[in-house]
Amino acid sequence: MAHDTTAATAAKADRQNPSLVVTADHRIKMEEAEIPEPGVGEVLLHIRATGICGSDLHFWKHGAIGSLTVDGDCILGHEAAGVVLARGPGVDHLEVAKFTHKLPDSVSFACAALLEPLSVGLHALRTSPVSVGSPVAVFGAGPIGLLTMAAARASGAHPIVITDIDEGRLSFAKAFEPHCLTYKVDPTATPEVTANRIRDLFEREGRTAGLPRTEYDMPQLVLECTGFESSIATAAYTVRRGGCVNVVGVSSKPLVNNIPFMHISLAEIQLRFINRYHDTWPAAIRAIEGDLIERSKLESLVTDEFRLEEAVQALEFSANSHKREDGRITVKIQIVDPPLSERTRST
Ligand SMILES: NC(=O)c1ccc[n+]([C@@H]2O[C@H](COP(=O)([O-])OP(=O)(O)OC[C@H]3O[C@@H](n4cnc5c(N)ncnc54)[C@H](O)[C@@H]3O)[C@@H](O)[C@H]2O)c1
Repeated sequence: MAHDTTAATAAKADRQNPSLVVTADHRIKMEEAEIPEPGVGEVLLHIRATGICGSDLHFWKHGAIGSLTVDGDCILGHEAAGVVLARGPGVDHLEVAKFTHKLPDSVSFACAALLEPLSVGLHALRTSPVSVGSPVAVFGAGPIGLLTMAAARASGAHPIVITDIDEGRLSFAKAFEPHCLTYKVDPTATPEVTANRIRDLFEREGRTAGLPRTEYDMPQLVLECTGFESSIATAAYTVRRGGCVNVVGVSSKPLVNNIPFMHISLAEIQLRFINRYHDTWPAAIRAIEGDLIERSKLESLVTDEFRLEEAVQALEFSANSHKREDGRITVKIQIVDPPLSERTRST
């Protein structure tokens, strides 16, 4: 099949492919990257929106996540959405100027770029499924915790308790999902004490009624979305006996200690982990199309937008967003780029 290289050639003629690059010596810089011809089974994309993920900051500041290391210049950005500019040989199921996963027209680029972190939540719910009316706890109200909560709610979870150490993130979580209950973790409390307080929120009858706690009302699943040792331990004490702790969070340490081994063993708790996702985009798109996860809700996660030319500032802002003085909460920062025609006009 003849493939469309016109747009690729046009983009090449502009010589515009500004890219945010991280270096092995922990610098970030903007650079013009090559515009390759799409090969067999490949497409050339114009990326229109890219979310900044904690891992981007980690590659910049620490140069590694586990065994993944930055050994030379590397272009950042994996939470991306864009349009197809050109197709390589063998690509006949995608149209030029359409997304690689065909999206309904009403799904914005901002929303489409969130399909990546949403996929993490979807994969967590696939690997530890819940049924309608299952009590679930989510630890950590960052973008991953919020999107995982959205996936849990769409799967039928109720009630849902979400925790964080940050009051601002919790009030954002309550506005994002009004059905959830929030709990502010006291970092000085022990995991057992914290777990007990979280369990109180799941108790239907309430202690005041003098009734014993019903283990069946306790969360059958804890979605741990922080990766912190103390939070994983808290998850083990929070989940119901025989329930599941799914550790979505990633640790900065290669070894994590202080996991309550004997409690997990005696209560037959399943402790499992996920590594991103696979084959989740079609389900995520269907969930959005069917309003199981509302697009406006997803878009509300994008609290800050920067233009592509300001990508370095965007990353710096992301690294310091906890220090912002205007009282606003930062959840997801996206870098956006206008259509090529506009970019050409403005340069
Ligand atoms: N497994 C995977 O494939 C995968 C994919 C993407 C992200 N992640 C990981 O998921 C985690 C969350 O990502 P994010 O982008 O939402 O990060 P984030 O840092 O924005 O959010 C984490 C939240 O956890 C809160 N927190 C810290 N300690 C806590 C505690 N003890 N109890 C409750 N909350 C606490 C923080 O205040 C913050 O709001 C990270 O560890 C990230 O690396 C894993």
